[in-house]
Amino acid sequence: MSRQLTFSIFRYNPNDPSSAPRMQEYTLNESTGMTIFVALNQIREEQDPSLNFDFVCRAAICGSCAMVINGRPRLACKTLTKDFKDTITLMPLPVFKLVGDLAVDTGTWFRHMSLKTESWIHTNKKFDPIAQEDRMDNEVALNIYESERCIECGCCIAGCATANIREEFLGAAGINRVGRFMVDPRDERSDMEYFEVIGSDEGAFGCMGLMACDDNCPMGLPLQLQLAFVRRKITMAGLKS
Ligand code: SF4
Ligand code: SF4
Ligand code: FES
Repeated sequence: MSRQLTFSIFRYNPNDPSSAPRMQEYTLNESTGMTIFVALNQIREEQDPSLNFDFVCRAAICGSCAMVINGRPRLACKTLTKDFKDTITLMPLPVFKLVGDLAVDTGTWFRHMSLKTESWIHTNKKFDPIAQEDRMDNEVALNIYESERCIECGCCIAGCATANIREEFLGAAGINRVGRFMVDPRDERSDMEYFEVIGSDEGAFGCMGLMACDDNCPMGLPLQLQLAFVRRKITMAGLKS
């Protein structure tokens, strides 16, 4: 016989003046292989069409279904109900602007971070549309690929103590982004130019190093290594200057 699960879900519509933040309970029977995403869909279809949450891919690719599940940021489509006791609490990710219930706006935050970290190749080379692609060592290419696996879900930001108290902190996702360009041989920025971008308490020096980001990343990005790499580069640039 399947278990009966109780979901305690945060409800609030910030655009409705009559709405007040509250927790609402729903019960349903667990099915085989049920994810939090499947459960939420079932609740919305069978019990409450007003429940607001985000998803696109259902396959841990788009990053839009991140939420706080029993106190920890995770992807709803990748998290199985069988890994929890009978009661599961769902909250929206902190740090990001609340859209409603479990849905948050991560897009604005990530766009701001991309602009702040100048997430594009800086080069004086003139663009030649018919030139062959630049060759790159396998090791460097793999390094870049590893950083680029970030799906911008926001789990590392939501679980980060600094990001929760410092609005402009770039977080592990931002520091990882800078590290990605630092190793790219096509980017001609000097270490000092990177220092200007990330050598502050809003960047690498605001990180407390407790590694909640590394624990919470659903893609298993090596954030610990990346943070150490960027901090070392930036510190050396600062000392040299
Ligand atoms: S290690 Fe740094 S970036 Fe990661 S969660 Fe802690 S403070 Fe945030
Ligand atoms: S680094 Fe990991 S946790 Fe952070 S946004 Fe990217 S995929 Fe999500
Ligand atoms: S729905 Fe795309 S990551 Fe979960």
